[in-house]
Amino acid sequence: MRLLLVLAVVFVVYSLTTAQQTRPCKSPPYLMGKLVVSLKDEVKFWNYEYNRALQRMRVYETENLVNRSLTNDFLLHFGEGVTYEMDGLTSTCSKRPLRADYQPIGIPDDATSAMPLIFGSLSVPGGGMQVNSWQGLSPRGEEYIKFVTEVGCVPHQATFYTEKHGQVTIVFLNSTVHNKAQDDLSPPGFCPEEDAQPTGRPVDLLELFLESRIKKLKRTFSKLINVYLNNYSFL
Ligand SMILES: *[C@@H]1O[C@H](CO)[C@@H](O)[C@H](O)[C@H]1NC(C)=O
Ligand SMILES: *[C@@H]1O[C@H](CO)[C@@H](O)[C@H](O)[C@H]1NC(C)=O
Ligand SMILES: *[C@@H]1O[C@H](CO)[C@@H](O)[C@H](O)[C@H]1NC(C)=O
Repeated sequence: MRLLLVLAVVFVVYSLTTAQQTRPCKSPPYLMGKLVVSLKDEVKFWNYEYNRALQRMRVYETENLVNRSLTNDFLLHFGEGVTYEMDGLTSTCSKRPLRADYQPIGIPDDATSAMPLIFGSLSVPGGGMQVNSWQGLSPRGEEYIKFVTEVGCVPHQATFYTEKHGQVTIVFLNSTVHNKAQDDLSPPGFCPEEDAQPTGRPVDLLELFLESRIKKLKRTFSKLINVYLNNYSFL
């Protein structure tokens, strides 16, 4: 974590001392893969799908518990500023306002390029990957750094330095690039209509990741309470 901060400082110095200004690259149009989200000392695996033209992203995680699996499944429509939280098991869905502060994919036009880097080593064939880094400020004025591959502009890592959640890092793994949309990331039929007003307090992506953690804690608590009451029927 501290290393990233040092890197950030190095980048700032680097970008101040080089006049080089390249234009931000465009991410591939359609992506799917895994996310490793590290926030508040917790690391979690999520899956993601992305559609650049529609500015939509789906993030979901599945947890396999005894005899059933639980999912946290969100559709993020950054363009429209709404998010759908879906529960396929109970066919329930809520629509909430979404703040677009923490978009992990895509380099905003006002981002500045920082130092290019090699992850691993290019001295060994296939042993390294060249990445470019971009930094800037979110709409809320918080700093971010994004790393994308030199070839193809595939997202590799996004780090947000936030006031509320501290430093949050999202690493992209096993991404596949597609030429056609696999899914238009529209809400399923059991969700509120697309023109229905979102309800509730506006949320951002990082809060959604955190909320899933809260749910998990609640489940753990209810199990603990059962054990405390010598009720093992849930096992
Ligand atoms: C598992 O789920 C099935 C179908 O819902 C149910 O019939 C069965 O009793 C469950 N088993 C346990 C151990 O909960
Ligand atoms: C990532 O890809 C590798 C190589 O295809 C595969 O072996 C691995 O299981 C994948 N990991 C995840 C978390 O999907
Ligand atoms: C025991 O736990 C199960 C599952 O959480 C619950 O349905 C049941 O009512 C509990 N029984 C008692 C006696 O508290």
